Amino acid sequence: MESNYNASSLMLPNLFSNVSYHPKFADKDIQMWEGKTLSELSWRVFCGDALEVLKALPKESFNCVVTSPPYFWLRDYKVEGQIGWEDSVEEYVNALVQIMDEIYRVLLPDGTLFLNIGDTYYSGKGESQGVDKKSPKRRFGLRAVDKGGGLGLKLRPKTAIGIPWRVAIEMSQQKWILRSSIIWNRQFSLPESVKDRPRRTYENIFMFTKGRKYFFNREPLERDGEEDIWNIPARTEPNGLDTAPFPDLLVQRCLEIGCPENGSVLDPFVGSGTTMRVALNAGHSAVGIDLNQTFCQYIVKRLAEERL
Ligand SMILES: C[S@@+](CC[C@H](N)C(=O)[O-])C[C@H]1O[C@@H](n2cnc3c(N)ncnc32)[C@H](O)[C@@H]1O
Repeated sequence: MESNYNASSLMLPNLFSNVSYHPKFADKDIQMWEGKTLSELSWRVFCGDALEVLKALPKESFNCVVTSPPYFWLRDYKVEGQIGWEDSVEEYVNALVQIMDEIYRVLLPDGTLFLNIGDTYYSGKGESQGVDKKSPKRRFGLRAVDKGGGLGLKLRPKTAIGIPWRVAIEMSQQKWILRSSIIWNRQFSLPESVKDRPRRTYENIFMFTKGRKYFFNREPLERDGEEDIWNIPARTEPNGLDTAPFPDLLVQRCLEIGCPENGSVLDPFVGSGTTMRVALNAGHSAVGIDLNQTFCQYIVKRLAEERL
């Protein structure tokens, strides 16, 4: 199923009077839209490559980052330069770690990062084995890479690659402090169709900090009676976009525990804009980055029209 949201028919870049549009942010090939909510919270949407945009942002400007990058070999976002289709696990991990390095730079010293990431099974056939094998959103069979090659790691077919921990370990060996490995129990998600192993029902959310002292509010965890296993329904409202959105509740909890009042929130892989919407609703300013024009324009249109 193609995305049924057609950006070109919906808006010109500067269609909305309450939004300003900058076609060449920082003299680069980066489009930027900015506006304010009715309660004067500012937001910005950048359309461009996350690494390039992050490099153009000032250091130490965000309290909290909540994000979910493209998973390895799982979904085609149909944009040149997208992350997720590297030939080896090492290249994928390096691409993410490079972006996380820039996140580290733009995060305030007492800031927090919540990274939601899922695993991929290695099939050995140049295909991934995901939650829903029949989903046409996945790009099965289009690549004939690495047939039987073990993804540069000598993996045997049917192996769970362990992507989330490979990324987390690499990040914590460089500069980050890994403070918590949270299990998101994806309640009511569509079950995998596999019959020869337990079906996956969870993903990881890693909480990283820059320093030993950082903003943290335990109260919401105590209120909800949950610590590092979060039971949150996986289904989200359909929005016509194939972004694999995470649920509002997940972002809400990350912000409640990891972002001070009137904070500034960033999502470098913002997709349909879940993080921005939840952050603005909670009284924070919000910045989102995505490579996909259609997704960026969808967010801008929603923010401009709803004004929250
Ligand atoms: C898992 S989705 C994020 C979904 C989002 N959390 C939501 O709720 O809609 C990952 C996003 O990363 C974007 N993306 C892929 N490669 C990128 C890159 N190099 N720079 C910026 N965004 C990228 C994709 O277009 C996609 O929207």
